[in-house]
Amino acid sequence: MNNVLIISGHTDLATSVANKTILETLARRLPEAEIVKLDELYPDFKINVEAEQQRLLRADIIVLQYPLFWYSAPSLLERWMEETFRHGFSHGSTGDKLKGKKLVLSFTTGAPETMYGREGAMGYDIEDFLPCYKATCRLCQMEFAGYVYTGGVSYGNRTSPELIEQQKIASEQHAQRLIELLEKTSYR
Ligand SMILES: Cc1cc2nc3c(=O)[nH]c(=O)nc-3n(C[C@H](O)[C@H](O)[C@H](O)COP(=O)(O)O)c2cc1C
Repeated sequence: MNNVLIISGHTDLATSVANKTILETLARRLPEAEIVKLDELYPDFKINVEAEQQRLLRADIIVLQYPLFWYSAPSLLERWMEETFRHGFSHGSTGDKLKGKKLVLSFTTGAPETMYGREGAMGYDIEDFLPCYKATCRLCQMEFAGYVYTGGVSYGNRTSPELIEQQKIASEQHAQRLIELLEKTSYR
């Protein structure tokens, strides 16, 4: 498989069920992938730009792994992107360092998947929240290679060991779907 870089944007993995399970499954199943936990490295939000840009340079496929917060990525992941995707590096007349790399989104939502849709409670399809990543890929000459998403993994629905176990199983299945997407992306 190509070099895979997984950036975890969860702000506190210690309290996570879904993202934690997904990352643990990926670490086991894709030992060659580089997994970066932003909450461990940068609790102060002070991103080491040089180190993060070096990781990006080594990667063929970049996975953003995060819980949806206010229909967007968590602040820490936004910060990472604001700092590392700099003019002259990722974009601009002399910035082509991400050219040809592939971006994959892997995210979880508290609301169930049935709530995301024009007719659902959210009033928007889940895909309606992705154009900023597609536009970023376009600007940086990257390929948007798709997304994997799991809904219904809310904190409010963790009131018994059985319900927590269900969320872990859904998260393991999420990791499996992500691995399949990465394999497909790698070999084309
Ligand atoms: C600050 C905050 C904002 C959130 N915003 C959303 C949201 O916009 N849509 C949604 O479906 N879930 C939202 N959630 C729920 C999270 O997406 C959900 O708890 C997370 O995916 C579970 O993953 P974890 O177990 O790894 O923490 C939010 C949660 C928090 C704490």
